Amino acid sequence: MNRLIIIGAGGHGKVVADNALKNGYTNICYIDDNAKGDVIGFPIIGTSTDIECLNDGSTDFIIGIGNNAVRKMIAEKYRVNWVTLIHPSAQIAFNAEIGKGSVVMANAVVNVCAKIGEHCIINTGAIVEHDNVIEDYVHISPNAALGGTVHIGDNTHVGIGATVKNNINVCSECTIGAGAVVVKNITDNGTYIGVPARKMD
Ligand SMILES: CC(C)(COP(=O)(O)OP(=O)(O)OC[C@H]1O[C@@H](n2cnc3c(N)ncnc32)[C@H](O)[C@@H]1OP(=O)(O)O)[C@@H](O)C(=O)NCCC(=O)NCCS
Repeated sequence: MNRLIIIGAGGHGKVVADNALKNGYTNICYIDDNAKGDVIGFPIIGTSTDIECLNDGSTDFIIGIGNNAVRKMIAEKYRVNWVTLIHPSAQIAFNAEIGKGSVVMANAVVNVCAKIGEHCIINTGAIVEHDNVIEDYVHISPNAALGGTVHIGDNTHVGIGATVKNNINVCSECTIGAGAVVVKNITDNGTYIGVPARKMD
């Protein structure tokens, strides 16, 4: 099995490492621009300036950074073997599609005909129901629930415990606050909170 380099050794990067272990990776390292030493037993072997030379043909890469814009910037900058990690406890329908560089965490559900883009995070216990389309660089936070046939535009962050009603479109570059309930289409980018969700002033 290839070595796995996780870019970003913060909180999300730690959860990615656990996911990688459960996918059989035994040689796991981090690179991080702000930390040194090791994190939960895995060494930090360099910074982002080392990515090109660490890309030796037998190394897989994954981005362990929760911020969508930062993930996008890194993914677009480097041509490396981005892998997809699906925690063994996640429930993925037989015909669901999950793009490269995306991670699906413990107990998440991705139901039939759902399509997840590249470098997305489907976080712990999130529910992505049937026929959803989740564009690239989206983060669906822990315990968020998306009803059937929801569309989430690229770079949008759906906060922890938020709910999106079935058949709803949320445009790109939005933040849906923790616990918000989205019951109408969102067509203007921005931050939305509350029940029902409304744009923050
Ligand atoms: C919505 C959010 C982005 C706003 O962040 P912010 O701009 O820094 O806002 P602040 O924390 O300064 O709060 C501003 C006001 O909005 C309220 N507010 C913040 N988040 C809220 C939420 N999710 N629902 C309802 N009200 C909220 C605050 O209570 C505060 O109200 P006040 O002015 O009456 O005191 C953020 O609170 C949030 O919910 N982020 C999602 C976090 C998440 O899910 N992380 C998952 C990590 S895995």
